[in-house]
Amino acid sequence: MTSIPVITIDGPSGSGKGTVAVRIAEKLGFTLLDSGALYRSVGIAALRGGIDLRDHQQIAELARHLNIEFGVSSPDSVWLDGEDVSLEIRTDIGSELASQIGAIPAAREALYERQLAFRKAPGLVADGRDMGTVVFQDAIIKIYLTARPEERAQRRYKQLIDKGIDASLPDLLRDLKERDARDSERPISPLKPAKDAVVLDTTDLHIDQVVEQVLDLVSERLVSWRS
Ligand code: DC
Repeated sequence: MTSIPVITIDGPSGSGKGTVAVRIAEKLGFTLLDSGALYRSVGIAALRGGIDLRDHQQIAELARHLNIEFGVSSPDSVWLDGEDVSLEIRTDIGSELASQIGAIPAAREALYERQLAFRKAPGLVADGRDMGTVVFQDAIIKIYLTARPEERAQRRYKQLIDKGIDASLPDLLRDLKERDARDSERPISPLKPAKDAVVLDTTDLHIDQVVEQVLDLVSERLVSWRS
């Protein structure tokens, strides 16, 4: 067993995993790995570079050598080749491209080593789709957050409207279901709970309640892991 504990938080978009991961990492003083941001950054870099997503070799090359920095201007900021792309990677185009990149085995392989490098003392909170099933199989606790698609689409809708961005709820729901299907049905590292994951349905919970529940589970596990 290694001495650096990892906490994995996996699940589909809109399940609350990103917010929960940030808050847990802050609370524990652990490093944060937002693996979705890596897939998103590769997607945006491919778009900018005019790289065809069918060219798996070039995409893998891009993933391997991409110059990505986290937390430069704020804890959740993402910089690509010295430029702040935090907002761009979170657009719907960014989500769509990331889901397509995630289905490319050579891209996943290229990002695998990069993700392992985030494991630093005193610990890591890693969020994504395959953190518990593939990348950090020895995590001390694996959380899988989920929620009904309608609720997840509604959360995204509210987020966009609050930002003053026009959006259509039926379109958001359709796109989300499409990405869910692609992420869950791909042959390599599909979205699914690890066998030893704690599954939490957040449909009827406020984000603060989710954070509280996960924090309780994690704190309990850390105590027994340390003793
Ligand atoms: O977590 P997110 O919504 O930022 O992820 C965006 C997309 O990236 C997701 O639809 C699939 C891909 N992804 C992945 O394949 N594996 C991960 N560990 C994280 C994200």
